[in-house]
Amino acid sequence: MNTQPDLPRKVKIVEVGPRDGLQNEKESVPASVKIELVDRLSQAGFLNIEAASFVSPKWVPQMATSAEVMAQIARRAGTIYSALTPNMQGFDAALAAKADEVVIFGSASEAFSQKNINCSIAESIARFEPVAKAAKAAGLRLRASISCAFGCPYQGEVPLDAVAEVVGRMRDLGCDEIDIADTIGVATPRKTQAVMLRAAGEFRIESIAGHFHDTYGQALANIYASLEVGVAIFHSSVAGLGGCPYAKGATGNIATEDVVYMMNGLGIETGIDLDLVVDAGQFISQHLGRKAVSRAGNAIAAKRAG
Ligand code: HMG
Ligand code: MG
Repeated sequence: MNTQPDLPRKVKIVEVGPRDGLQNEKESVPASVKIELVDRLSQAGFLNIEAASFVSPKWVPQMATSAEVMAQIARRAGTIYSALTPNMQGFDAALAAKADEVVIFGSASEAFSQKNINCSIAESIARFEPVAKAAKAAGLRLRASISCAFGCPYQGEVPLDAVAEVVGRMRDLGCDEIDIADTIGVATPRKTQAVMLRAAGEFRIESIAGHFHDTYGQALANIYASLEVGVAIFHSSVAGLGGCPYAKGATGNIATEDVVYMMNGLGIETGIDLDLVVDAGQFISQHLGRKAVSRAGNAIAAKRAG
Protein backbone atom coordinates (compact mmCIF):
# COMPACT_ATOMS: atom_id res chain seq x y z
CA MET A 1 0.00 0.00 0.00
CA ASN A 2 1.24 3.48 -0.79
CA THR A 3 2.01 5.14 2.51
CA GLN A 4 2.82 8.43 0.79
CA PRO A 5 -0.48 9.79 -0.53
CA ASP A 6 1.30 12.88 -1.87
CA LEU A 7 3.34 10.80 -4.33
CA PRO A 8 1.97 9.34 -7.59
CA ARG A 9 0.53 5.85 -7.04
CA LYS A 10 1.83 4.61 -10.35
CA VAL A 11 4.80 5.56 -12.54
CA LYS A 12 5.95 4.69 -16.05
CA ILE A 13 9.58 3.69 -16.33
CA VAL A 14 11.04 4.11 -19.79
CA GLU A 15 13.96 1.74 -20.25
CA VAL A 16 16.64 3.56 -22.25
CA GLY A 17 19.54 1.14 -21.79
CA PRO A 18 19.53 -0.31 -25.31
CA ARG A 19 19.89 3.22 -26.73
CA ASP A 20 21.32 5.71 -24.22
CA GLY A 21 23.14 2.87 -22.48
CA LEU A 22 24.82 1.23 -25.41
CA GLN A 23 25.39 4.25 -27.68
CA ASN A 24 28.48 5.17 -25.69
CA GLU A 25 30.24 1.79 -25.56
CA LYS A 26 33.74 1.79 -27.01
CA GLU A 27 33.60 -1.80 -28.26
CA SER A 28 30.91 -2.63 -30.76
CA VAL A 29 28.05 -4.64 -29.24
CA PRO A 30 26.68 -7.23 -31.70
CA ALA A 31 23.08 -6.78 -32.81
CA SER A 32 22.28 -10.26 -31.45
CA VAL A 33 23.22 -9.13 -27.92
CA LYS A 34 21.14 -5.95 -28.24
CA ILE A 35 18.18 -8.00 -29.45
CA GLU A 36 18.45 -10.40 -26.51
CA LEU A 37 18.72 -7.42 -24.15
CA VAL A 38 15.57 -5.78 -25.56
CA ASP A 39 13.71 -9.11 -25.46
CA ARG A 40 14.65 -9.65 -21.82
CA LEU A 41 13.47 -6.11 -21.01
CA SER A 42 10.20 -6.69 -22.85
CA GLN A 43 9.64 -9.82 -20.75
CA ALA A 44 10.32 -7.78 -17.60
CA GLY A 45 7.19 -5.77 -18.39
CA PHE A 46 8.34 -2.32 -19.55
CA LEU A 47 5.65 -0.35 -21.37
CA ASN A 48 8.25 1.72 -23.20
CA ILE A 49 11.73 0.70 -24.36
CA GLU A 50 14.07 3.01 -26.25
CA ALA A 51 15.51 0.43 -28.60
CA ALA A 52 17.02 2.35 -31.50
CA SER A 53 18.56 5.57 -32.73
CA PHE A 54 18.53 6.59 -36.37
CA VAL A 55 21.38 9.08 -36.31
CA SER A 56 24.48 9.38 -38.44
CA PRO A 57 26.60 6.23 -38.00
CA LYS A 58 29.66 8.45 -38.41
CA TRP A 59 28.62 10.33 -35.28
CA VAL A 60 27.41 7.36 -33.22
CA PRO A 61 28.70 4.07 -34.68
CA GLN A 62 27.12 1.93 -31.93
CA MET A 63 23.64 2.72 -33.20
CA ALA A 64 24.33 1.65 -36.79
CA THR A 65 22.57 -1.69 -36.22
CA SER A 66 19.29 -0.06 -35.15
CA ALA A 67 17.29 -1.29 -38.16
CA GLU A 68 18.47 -4.86 -37.58
CA VAL A 69 17.58 -4.65 -33.89
CA MET A 70 14.10 -3.27 -34.58
CA ALA A 71 13.48 -5.96 -37.21
CA GLN A 72 14.38 -8.87 -34.95
CA ILE A 73 13.12 -8.04 -31.48
CA ALA A 74 10.10 -9.97 -30.22
CA ARG A 75 7.60 -7.17 -29.63
CA ARG A 76 5.42 -7.46 -26.59
CA ALA A 77 1.84 -6.33 -27.11
CA GLY A 78 1.28 -2.99 -25.43
CA THR A 79 4.96 -2.01 -25.29
CA ILE A 80 6.11 1.10 -27.14
CA TYR A 81 9.46 0.68 -28.92
CA SER A 82 11.01 4.11 -29.44
CA ALA A 83 13.69 5.42 -31.78
CA LEU A 84 15.66 8.66 -31.82
CA THR A 85 15.14 10.69 -34.99
CA PRO A 86 17.10 13.95 -35.31
CA ASN A 87 15.81 14.75 -38.82
CA MET A 88 13.69 13.40 -41.68
CA GLN A 89 16.38 10.92 -42.70
CA GLY A 90 16.14 9.45 -39.21
CA PHE A 91 12.34 9.58 -39.29
CA ASP A 92 12.13 7.68 -42.57
CA ALA A 93 14.38 4.97 -41.15
CA ALA A 94 12.33 4.79 -37.94
CA LEU A 95 9.09 4.50 -39.89
CA ALA A 96 10.54 1.73 -42.04
CA ALA A 97 11.70 -0.02 -38.87
CA LYS A 98 8.16 0.19 -37.43
CA ALA A 99 9.05 2.29 -34.41
CA ASP A 100 5.98 3.04 -32.29
CA GLU A 101 7.35 6.36 -31.11
CA VAL A 102 9.90 8.77 -32.52
CA VAL A 103 12.04 10.97 -30.32
CA ILE A 104 13.27 14.36 -31.41
CA PHE A 105 16.10 15.55 -29.24
CA GLY A 106 17.06 19.13 -28.61
CA SER A 107 18.81 21.05 -25.89
CA ALA A 108 18.23 23.92 -23.49
CA SER A 109 21.87 24.89 -24.05
CA GLU A 110 23.05 26.43 -27.33
CA ALA A 111 26.57 25.09 -26.87
CA PHE A 112 25.38 21.51 -26.36
CA SER A 113 22.99 21.73 -29.30
CA GLN A 114 25.94 22.55 -31.57
CA LYS A 115 28.11 19.74 -30.21
CA ASN A 116 25.39 17.09 -30.20
CA ILE A 117 23.39 17.74 -33.34
CA ASN A 118 25.53 20.28 -35.17
CA CYS A 119 23.01 23.12 -35.22
CA SER A 120 21.55 25.90 -33.07
CA ILE A 121 18.42 25.40 -30.95
CA ALA A 122 16.35 27.40 -33.45
CA GLU A 123 17.70 25.35 -36.38
CA SER A 124 16.93 22.14 -34.50
CA ILE A 125 13.30 23.16 -33.97
CA ALA A 126 13.04 23.90 -37.70
CA ARG A 127 14.43 20.41 -38.44
CA PHE A 128 11.98 18.84 -36.00
CA GLU A 129 8.92 20.47 -37.57
CA PRO A 130 8.67 18.12 -40.56
CA VAL A 131 9.50 15.16 -38.30
CA ALA A 132 6.65 16.12 -35.97
CA LYS A 133 4.22 16.54 -38.88
CA ALA A 134 5.27 13.23 -40.43
CA ALA A 135 4.95 11.44 -37.10
CA LYS A 136 1.40 12.74 -36.65
CA ALA A 137 0.49 11.85 -40.23
CA ALA A 138 1.80 8.31 -39.70
CA GLY A 139 -0.04 7.97 -36.39
CA LEU A 140 3.16 7.59 -34.36
CA ARG A 141 3.72 8.90 -30.88
CA LEU A 142 6.04 11.89 -30.71
CA ARG A 143 8.37 12.49 -27.79
CA ALA A 144 10.94 15.21 -27.27
CA SER A 145 14.05 15.05 -25.14
CA ILE A 146 15.58 18.26 -23.82
CA SER A 147 19.25 17.88 -22.90
CA CYS A 148 21.20 19.97 -20.41
CA ALA A 149 18.09 21.22 -18.62
CA PHE A 150 20.05 21.33 -15.35
CA GLY A 151 23.51 22.32 -16.56
CA CYS A 152 25.75 22.05 -19.59
CA PRO A 153 29.26 20.64 -19.94
CA TYR A 154 30.17 23.51 -22.29
CA GLN A 155 28.29 26.57 -21.06
CA GLY A 156 27.77 25.70 -17.37
CA GLU A 157 24.56 27.22 -15.95
CA VAL A 158 21.40 26.86 -18.00
CA PRO A 159 18.71 29.42 -17.08
CA LEU A 160 15.20 28.22 -16.19
CA ASP A 161 13.89 30.53 -18.92
CA ALA A 162 15.88 28.60 -21.52
CA VAL A 163 14.34 25.32 -20.37
CA ALA A 164 10.83 26.82 -20.39
CA GLU A 165 11.38 28.23 -23.88
CA VAL A 166 12.37 24.86 -25.37
CA VAL A 167 9.59 23.01 -23.53
CA GLY A 168 7.13 25.48 -25.09
CA ARG A 169 8.60 24.94 -28.55
CA MET A 170 8.38 21.16 -28.19
CA ARG A 171 4.77 21.46 -26.92
CA ASP A 172 3.91 23.56 -29.96
CA LEU A 173 5.29 20.84 -32.22
CA GLY A 174 2.59 18.54 -30.79
CA CYS A 175 4.71 16.31 -28.58
CA ASP A 176 2.91 13.64 -26.59
CA GLU A 177 5.64 13.53 -23.97
CA ILE A 178 8.61 15.73 -23.08
CA ASP A 179 11.74 14.56 -21.27
CA ILE A 180 13.66 16.93 -19.06
CA ALA A 181 17.20 15.59 -19.13
CA ASP A 182 20.12 15.96 -16.79
CA THR A 183 22.70 14.97 -19.36
CA ILE A 184 25.71 15.33 -17.07
CA GLY A 185 24.06 14.40 -13.78
CA VAL A 186 24.69 17.70 -11.99
CA ALA A 187 21.21 18.36 -10.61
CA THR A 188 20.35 18.19 -6.92
CA PRO A 189 16.83 17.73 -5.48
CA ARG A 190 15.68 21.34 -4.95
CA LYS A 191 17.09 22.38 -8.31
CA THR A 192 15.28 19.42 -9.84
CA GLN A 193 11.98 20.57 -8.37
CA ALA A 194 12.52 24.13 -9.61
CA VAL A 195 13.20 22.95 -13.16
CA MET A 196 10.33 20.45 -13.18
CA LEU A 197 7.86 23.02 -11.86
CA ARG A 198 9.01 25.51 -14.47
CA ALA A 199 8.62 22.91 -17.22
CA ALA A 200 5.17 22.11 -15.82
CA GLY A 201 4.24 25.76 -16.39
CA GLU A 202 4.58 25.05 -20.13
CA PHE A 203 3.41 21.44 -20.47
CA ARG A 204 1.10 19.07 -18.60
CA ILE A 205 3.06 17.47 -15.77
CA GLU A 206 1.62 14.00 -16.33
CA SER A 207 3.43 13.90 -19.68
CA ILE A 208 6.76 15.21 -18.42
CA ALA A 209 9.53 12.65 -17.87
CA GLY A 210 12.66 12.89 -15.75
CA HIS A 211 15.81 11.63 -17.50
CA PHE A 212 18.61 11.60 -14.95
CA HIS A 213 22.19 10.58 -15.49
CA ASP A 214 23.88 9.56 -12.26
CA THR A 215 27.29 11.16 -12.69
CA TYR A 216 27.29 12.81 -9.26
CA GLY A 217 25.21 10.13 -7.52
CA GLN A 218 22.15 12.37 -7.24
CA ALA A 219 19.78 10.71 -9.67
CA LEU A 220 17.72 8.67 -7.23
CA ALA A 221 17.31 11.67 -4.93
CA ASN A 222 16.30 13.74 -7.94
CA ILE A 223 13.71 11.16 -8.94
CA TYR A 224 12.23 11.26 -5.44
CA ALA A 225 12.20 15.06 -5.58
CA SER A 226 10.43 14.86 -8.96
CA LEU A 227 7.81 12.49 -7.52
CA GLU A 228 7.11 15.06 -4.83
CA VAL A 229 6.13 17.63 -7.46
CA GLY A 230 4.01 15.15 -9.44
CA VAL A 231 6.32 13.79 -12.13
CA ALA A 232 5.36 10.18 -12.86
CA ILE A 233 7.51 9.14 -15.85
CA PHE A 234 11.20 8.31 -15.43
CA HIS A 235 13.95 7.07 -17.70
CA SER A 236 16.56 4.61 -16.54
CA SER A 237 19.11 2.19 -17.95
CA VAL A 238 19.41 -1.41 -16.93
CA ALA A 239 22.72 -1.98 -15.10
CA GLY A 240 23.26 1.80 -15.14
CA LEU A 241 24.64 1.60 -18.68
CA GLY A 242 25.46 4.64 -20.65
CA GLY A 243 26.49 8.19 -21.16
CA CYS A 244 26.31 10.63 -24.02
CA PRO A 245 29.08 10.63 -26.61
CA TYR A 246 28.87 14.44 -26.79
CA ALA A 247 28.98 15.11 -23.03
CA LYS A 248 32.49 14.24 -21.89
CA GLY A 249 32.66 12.52 -18.51
CA ALA A 250 28.89 11.97 -18.34
CA THR A 251 28.23 8.53 -16.91
CA GLY A 252 25.21 6.30 -17.31
CA ASN A 253 21.58 6.89 -16.55
CA ILE A 254 20.34 5.93 -13.14
CA ALA A 255 20.13 2.13 -13.00
CA THR A 256 16.66 0.72 -13.62
CA GLU A 257 17.11 -1.85 -10.86
CA ASP A 258 17.65 0.94 -8.32
CA VAL A 259 14.60 2.88 -9.50
CA VAL A 260 12.30 -0.16 -9.46
CA TYR A 261 13.62 -1.17 -6.02
CA MET A 262 12.84 2.31 -4.68
CA MET A 263 9.37 2.40 -6.27
CA ASN A 264 8.58 -1.04 -4.84
CA GLY A 265 9.61 0.19 -1.40
CA LEU A 266 7.43 3.28 -1.77
CA GLY A 267 4.46 1.16 -2.82
CA ILE A 268 4.38 2.85 -6.23
CA GLU A 269 3.24 0.61 -9.04
CA THR A 270 5.59 0.09 -12.02
CA GLY A 271 4.32 -3.14 -13.57
CA ILE A 272 7.93 -4.28 -13.82
CA ASP A 273 9.38 -7.58 -12.59
CA LEU A 274 12.54 -6.54 -10.70
CA ASP A 275 14.04 -10.04 -10.80
CA LEU A 276 13.87 -10.12 -14.59
CA VAL A 277 15.47 -6.66 -14.78
CA VAL A 278 18.30 -7.88 -12.54
CA ASP A 279 18.77 -10.86 -14.88
CA ALA A 280 18.87 -8.53 -17.90
CA GLY A 281 21.43 -6.33 -16.09
CA GLN A 282 23.62 -9.31 -15.28
CA PHE A 283 23.32 -10.52 -18.88
CA ILE A 284 24.51 -7.27 -20.47
CA SER A 285 27.18 -6.68 -17.81
CA GLN A 286 28.61 -10.15 -18.42
CA HIS A 287 28.70 -9.41 -22.12
CA LEU A 288 30.49 -6.10 -21.53
CA GLY A 289 32.89 -7.78 -19.10
CA ARG A 290 32.18 -5.54 -16.13
CA LYS A 291 30.08 -5.34 -13.03
CA ALA A 292 26.63 -3.73 -13.31
CA VAL A 293 26.53 -0.12 -12.11
CA SER A 294 23.48 -0.83 -9.96
CA ARG A 295 23.60 -1.08 -6.19
CA ALA A 296 20.24 -2.85 -5.98
CA GLY A 297 20.99 -5.11 -8.95
CA ASN A 298 24.32 -6.24 -7.55
CA ALA A 299 22.88 -6.69 -4.05
CA ILE A 300 20.06 -8.88 -5.36
CA ALA A 301 22.48 -10.89 -7.52
CA ALA A 302 24.83 -11.38 -4.54
CA LYS A 303 21.95 -12.47 -2.30
CA ARG A 304 20.85 -15.02 -4.88
CA ALA A 305 24.38 -16.41 -5.13
CA GLY A 306 24.23 -16.88 -1.34
P1 HMG B 1 25.11 16.86 -39.89
O1 HMG B 1 26.50 16.44 -40.30
O2 HMG B 1 24.90 18.30 -39.51
O3 HMG B 1 23.99 16.42 -40.94
O4 HMG B 1 24.69 15.96 -38.66
P2 HMG B 1 23.86 16.48 -42.48
O5 HMG B 1 22.40 16.53 -42.75
O6 HMG B 1 24.77 17.54 -43.06
O7 HMG B 1 24.39 15.05 -42.97
C1 HMG B 1 25.75 14.68 -42.91
C2 HMG B 1 25.89 13.20 -43.13
O8 HMG B 1 25.18 12.45 -42.14
C3 HMG B 1 25.33 12.71 -44.47
O9 HMG B 1 26.09 11.57 -44.86
C4 HMG B 1 23.95 12.23 -44.11
O10 HMG B 1 23.46 11.24 -44.98
C5 HMG B 1 24.20 11.63 -42.75
P3 HMG B 1 27.33 11.67 -45.90
O11 HMG B 1 26.73 12.31 -47.11
O12 HMG B 1 28.35 12.55 -45.23
O13 HMG B 1 27.77 10.27 -46.06
N1 HMG B 1 22.99 11.66 -41.91
C6 HMG B 1 22.39 10.57 -41.40
N2 HMG B 1 22.71 9.26 -41.46
C7 HMG B 1 21.87 8.40 -40.83
N3 HMG B 1 20.77 8.80 -40.15
C8 HMG B 1 20.45 10.10 -40.05
C9 HMG B 1 21.28 11.04 -40.70
N4 HMG B 1 21.23 12.39 -40.80
C10 HMG B 1 22.27 12.75 -41.54
N5 HMG B 1 19.37 10.47 -39.35
C11 HMG B 1 23.12 14.87 -37.24
C12 HMG B 1 23.46 16.13 -38.00
C13 HMG B 1 21.99 15.19 -36.28
C14 HMG B 1 22.69 13.80 -38.21
C15 HMG B 1 24.38 14.42 -36.48
O14 HMG B 1 24.85 15.50 -35.73
C16 HMG B 1 24.16 13.24 -35.59
O15 HMG B 1 23.84 12.14 -36.04
N6 HMG B 1 24.37 13.43 -34.30
C17 HMG B 1 24.22 12.34 -33.34
C18 HMG B 1 23.76 12.88 -32.05
C19 HMG B 1 23.48 11.76 -31.09
O16 HMG B 1 23.05 10.68 -31.47
N7 HMG B 1 23.74 12.02 -29.80
C20 HMG B 1 23.44 11.08 -28.78
C21 HMG B 1 21.95 10.94 -28.59
S1 HMG B 1 21.25 12.32 -27.70
C22 HMG B 1 21.49 11.91 -26.05
O17 HMG B 1 22.13 10.93 -25.73
C23 HMG B 1 20.84 12.78 -25.02
C24 HMG B 1 19.61 12.14 -24.39
O18 HMG B 1 19.92 10.89 -23.79
C25 HMG B 1 19.08 13.09 -23.29
C26 HMG B 1 20.19 13.52 -22.34
O19 HMG B 1 20.69 12.68 -21.56
O20 HMG B 1 20.57 14.68 -22.44
C27 HMG B 1 18.49 11.93 -25.40
MG1 MG C 1 20.75 10.61 -21.85
